[in-house]
Amino acid sequence: MRLFIAILLPEPVREALSALRLGLPGARWVEPEAMHLTLRFMGEVNAGEAEDIDAALAAIHVPAFDLAISGIGNFQSRRRVRSLWVGLGRSEPLARLQGKVESAVVRAGFEPERRKFKPHVTLARLKKTPVGHVGAYMETHDTFAVAPFAVTAFTLMRSYLNRDGPHYETLAEYPLEGAQQPNRATVRSTEPT
Ligand code: 2AM
Repeated sequence: MRLFIAILLPEPVREALSALRLGLPGARWVEPEAMHLTLRFMGEVNAGEAEDIDAALAAIHVPAFDLAISGIGNFQSRRRVRSLWVGLGRSEPLARLQGKVESAVVRAGFEPERRKFKPHVTLARLKKTPVGHVGAYMETHDTFAVAPFAVTAFTLMRSYLNRDGPHYETLAEYPLEGAQQPNRATVRSTEPT
């Protein structure tokens, strides 16, 4: 199974991000209920490894914290824009949580992630949209920001790569300490079709 570890976004945040899902021909927009912030991509693992990951994540203790989304960016490779995303302001609590997740999965027996953590929420995946169009879009939404929201949990997610795009399922949720209201009610998984 294909797994990753993420922070799911509360409904009002996903709604705010939905407003960005237009004005870029050729973009494959991420469905609002699938929007998330990845803390660690695990890739294909077997059932035993998934259990080890789950046990390691369940042992993480960090306090709940607030997170703010601001700014728009993109990832490029071979001179093409591959994805468009909203960024996260610098956040010590987020960095601490990501660091604990990383050491937990290494303790569970996985190779350390070599790539630098670049927190983002993917809005769209692109194939042939000209770079100029993406630049214009980014200028238009340059000042985009969402009011800070409370991160009360992180989740172990399973990804199904379907023909119409990835579908995600929440396998486990790990509450953060001191969270007033675990946002379970706002967590929705998209079941595979
Ligand atoms: P992305 O949004 O930038 O594509 C599930 O695929 C999640 O894991 C996505 O948020 C994706 O980031 C992230 N991810 C990180 N590394 C990945 C990889 N090598 N392959 C697929 N997804 C990856």
